[in-house]
Amino acid sequence: MKPILVIGSLNMDFVVQTETLPLPGETIKGRDFSMIPGGKGANQAVAAARLGGSVRMVGRVGQDEFGRTLTEGLASAGVDAGQVLPTSGVATGVALILVEREGQNQITIAAGANDRLEPPDLEPAFQDFSRGIVLLQLESPLQTVEAAARLACRRETTTILDPAPAAALPQTLLRNLDFLTPNETEALLLLGEPPGEIRLEDAPALGRRLLELGPATVVLKLGDKGAWMVNRHLSRHFPAYSVKPVDATAAGDTFNGALAVSLAEGASLPRAIGFANAAAALSVTLPGAQASIPSRSQVDRYRGEHRG
Ligand code: RIB
Repeated sequence: MKPILVIGSLNMDFVVQTETLPLPGETIKGRDFSMIPGGKGANQAVAAARLGGSVRMVGRVGQDEFGRTLTEGLASAGVDAGQVLPTSGVATGVALILVEREGQNQITIAAGANDRLEPPDLEPAFQDFSRGIVLLQLESPLQTVEAAARLACRRETTTILDPAPAAALPQTLLRNLDFLTPNETEALLLLGEPPGEIRLEDAPALGRRLLELGPATVVLKLGDKGAWMVNRHLSRHFPAYSVKPVDATAAGDTFNGALAVSLAEGASLPRAIGFANAAAALSVTLPGAQASIPSRSQVDRYRGEHRG
């Protein structure tokens, strides 16, 4: 089993369930409020550990109660959180999340300590790390993500970037990636297209255009339409598992954590995407970010009983 290194964010999620999402300027009444550990980096780390990976995380939190809770949460999920650095003078990252009746969400983050993660913070974690899988997202400063991809490249690792939150990215970064895993919004923004939905029949061409930006493989995450994978050898659809959605928060993170574990175990790419699809589908059936991430036995049982 190859080791997995996650470089990224930790947030405390403030979640309110609502009937619908508010329009600009509108006030609506919500239902339940909860605080749930989240952050795209931490979610991917927890997903990879719960699904059986050997996982280390690098990130920053404030020297506050949320920082301690999030770091302890990682450790109790089995993640080596020794490189999650408590940082003075700044608050732990938070996310404000609204989740509507059918599970769709709106998220705003205040990065806090996540914005203090700098390239030199990565060096201790990379010193004894090689031939593993590195998971990256975009809730850390771009220069840190770029430095991580460069360091990973030199160590015969597989680098997976989740380009979330959506942003335009330099080719120097995209060329250093083994996998780019955008959702619909992120894919269209990377291609300079207006926001919208991606029709399944358009996915192969869009995937090829993303491939031309530099990554070795593109996995388009298309929600209930499944995933479309494109590289030099293969262009293939992986249908989604059909579930009743409760909350889509962290479904993409669960997908990436699961993809990393399966690749770390030596699975073929189609098998790894099938596993990631199942883990992500299960995460959508429960509320919250890390609270919704399934265990390995739950995913294995589910795959035995259902087809994607
Ligand atoms: O991907 C879901 C995550 O996005 C949430 O947990 C929130 O913290 C934001 O980072």
